[in-house]
Amino acid sequence: MSYPHDPHSHARPNEIAVQHLDLDVTVDFDARRLTGRATYTLDRSTPGATTVVLDTWDLDIRSVTAADGTALEHGVGEPHPLLGRPLTIVAGSEDTVVVDYATGEGARALQWLDPAQTTGERFLFTQSQPILARSWIPCQDTPAVRHTYRATVRVPPELLAVMSAENSTERTADGVYSFAMPQPVPSYLVALAVGDLEFRPLGERAGVYAEPAVVDAAAWEFADTERMMEAAERLYGPYRWGRYDLLVLPPSFPYGGMENPRLTFVTPTLLAGDRSLVTVVAHELAHSWSGNLVTNATWDDIWLNEGFTVYFETRIDEELYGADYTAMLLRLGRQALETEIATLPARDTWLSLALADRDPEGGPDLVAYEKGSLFLRMIEHAVGRERLDAFLADYFDRFAFQSMDTATFLALLRAEVLEPAGVGESDVQIEAWVYGPGVPTNAPDFPSDAFDRVDRQAAALVAGTAAADLDTAGWAPQQWVHLLRALPADVPHPILADLDRTFGFSGQRNIEVLTAWLELAIGSEYVWSADEADAAVAGFLARHGRSLYLRRVYTKLAATPRGLERAREIFASAAAGYHPVARAGVARILDAA
Ligand code: BES
Ligand code: ZN
Repeated sequence: MSYPHDPHSHARPNEIAVQHLDLDVTVDFDARRLTGRATYTLDRSTPGATTVVLDTWDLDIRSVTAADGTALEHGVGEPHPLLGRPLTIVAGSEDTVVVDYATGEGARALQWLDPAQTTGERFLFTQSQPILARSWIPCQDTPAVRHTYRATVRVPPELLAVMSAENSTERTADGVYSFAMPQPVPSYLVALAVGDLEFRPLGERAGVYAEPAVVDAAAWEFADTERMMEAAERLYGPYRWGRYDLLVLPPSFPYGGMENPRLTFVTPTLLAGDRSLVTVVAHELAHSWSGNLVTNATWDDIWLNEGFTVYFETRIDEELYGADYTAMLLRLGRQALETEIATLPARDTWLSLALADRDPEGGPDLVAYEKGSLFLRMIEHAVGRERLDAFLADYFDRFAFQSMDTATFLALLRAEVLEPAGVGESDVQIEAWVYGPGVPTNAPDFPSDAFDRVDRQAAALVAGTAAADLDTAGWAPQQWVHLLRALPADVPHPILADLDRTFGFSGQRNIEVLTAWLELAIGSEYVWSADEADAAVAGFLARHGRSLYLRRVYTKLAATPRGLERAREIFASAAAGYHPVARAGVARILDAA
């Protein structure tokens, strides 16, 4: 097997690749440090190769030995500002090497939380995607290398440890937990969380872990998980990972969700109380095929993970909640894509990205997600759903546990989908989609009666109808988001005041609706004349940690001098509670302003 060049890793898997990892780590909350031993089983891609190179980021490498304890010659290279330091080990003909190490203060994958930042106890979680695994485990930190793993994790006995692996749902008396991941996974999917966690089953194969204060609400919110699994399997073949559990993180978790295999991590903001945000679960579940089974070869190919997953997610939504509901999500996705494209340099709007010499961690851009899924919707329209589905089911099976790059995928698409369907290259504009900017002209539209009704109410509102007289009976949260996004930035402040008074947007529990409201209130400068809106902005930025939403609200603030000043003031007090990823993302926005 040959591995692609990955500009975000020092590893040289074409010489020696890690095949299996045995991890033994102790979690020290007081020192905020993991201390451990990693034992690697090696696979020589080149017969006779003698050196193995691992990625590290601020790790203290204490010893490197062979299985029998003999010291092995090794060196830690100069730190690269994006990639960290390579650990080069002269393994000779050894099949096993052992590294003793400890994490450093700059362990960017780890967030250590005090009880004040949770609903109860101390908490630790990892976030390894895209290139942060190297800050808590020395590893070949490229999505192209896969390995199985086992782990022993030692934690304070009052806490439970869980990993992206076979878990026990029970506390142990001594705080020692064992895990096994028998399927090969890339390093970015190795994950650990430690906290005061309880478990509730959601069905035969699914369950949820959360802190005691939220676990019952979580079990209610995610009740459809097992049905989602069944729908996903009907679409694209068997779920290959055994169990599918969810872990609800404290509010500073920087993503909506993270598809750690067997154990998706999710933000607590999904607990809207009305199951309206569970499409994020459909998304992370879909990654069990697109991403975790067939994995982007490098981060330049991330649309093969995220775009496919958004497509798959909305197909699951359609199975469970119907085509009208799904059309609303597709419309919101398209709109967010257009907004984002307007802010990006053209090269960053291609599906095939060029991230060499850049930090792939900037946070997920919507291009890979929404343009990627729109591309598959376009193909679906061109060749028919049945043909595309048959191809995708076969693709996930044939390339399971392998990586995929853009060129290989396009060759498959041409030979196995387009040609048999008699669809010409120019009909679908493949090159323009993948190697060109923006959204090509043949993107499909998604008509939505539900949104047409909202548009009529938005027009009535702007024309002077009182908020209380609008016809909003039975609206879904997505319709409220659409209303707020449909209003012009110069909408008169009395209209916004009437809206907030009537519908209570500043006190919204649904984070999608709240964020759309805050963006409107800031963009229209209404926020400066209304205390509740201003308090809602400050409260939101202090309480929430999901990077995408923080970035959206800070970006709006940073657009005017007054907003920028307020943003800096809020950031100064809130930043300490943000996850390092979110903090860096916001700092970039404020620095650029
Ligand atoms: N895998 C991503 C999160 C991610 C991407 C982390 C790139 C680091 C680098 C996850 O599946 C995801 O896409 N999360 C989204 C939610 C989704 C419903 C769009 C998020 O966090 O917003
Ligand atoms: Zn995703």
